[in-house]
Amino acid sequence: MKKLVFATNNQHKTDEIRLALEGKYDVLNLEDIGCFVDIPETADTFEGNASLKSAYVVEHFNLDCFADDSGLEVEALDNEPGVYSARYSGSRDSLENIQLVLKKLEGKQNRRARFKTVISLMKNGERHIFEGIIEGTIRERLSGLKGFGYDPIFQPDGYDITFAEMDMAKKNQISHRAIALKKMLGFLKG
Ligand code: IMP
Repeated sequence: MKKLVFATNNQHKTDEIRLALEGKYDVLNLEDIGCFVDIPETADTFEGNASLKSAYVVEHFNLDCFADDSGLEVEALDNEPGVYSARYSGSRDSLENIQLVLKKLEGKQNRRARFKTVISLMKNGERHIFEGIIEGTIRERLSGLKGFGYDPIFQPDGYDITFAEMDMAKKNQISHRAIALKKMLGFLKG
């Protein structure tokens, strides 16, 4: 079977893709191919970072590969935290990152925001980009305990609950990541 590397160390994400591509691709993650390098994510766009990761695997392992990069864009903050979502406050602590977003939004009327995922797929030497976006608003206060990252302050359009109050199965159906992934799976299966 054809091999496809997912440039991640996240076992949960790997299992999900492995299941979706069962019988079609043998999906391997970075650990599976013996890549223990922290691949630099030095670009200032999601597409740039996803492309850096997928290109690294092609260059060093000569295998088809895809990589993703995601984050939160808040309109009134010039689309920050963006590519800096994981460490916006200087720490990886989600609560500190959330508090910084809420502080910077104090007194601002526009609370529009979106989560975005970009997937870069390198297949037979060609790069393909897939994007997933979910639009919503930033709440004044945290609500809910599920999920991770900025979920407690993000309310997707069409819902009156935050991502952190939503069942994980539901979030996984409608999220930015799910949208980008569906596009790539459609391409790979097509
Ligand atoms: P990654 O590229 O998927 O590792 O995401 C980078 C950062 O964006 C995470 O550390 C989170 O802070 C934020 N983020 C991405 N996706 C989500 C999400 O679905 N919910 C909440 N935060 C997210």
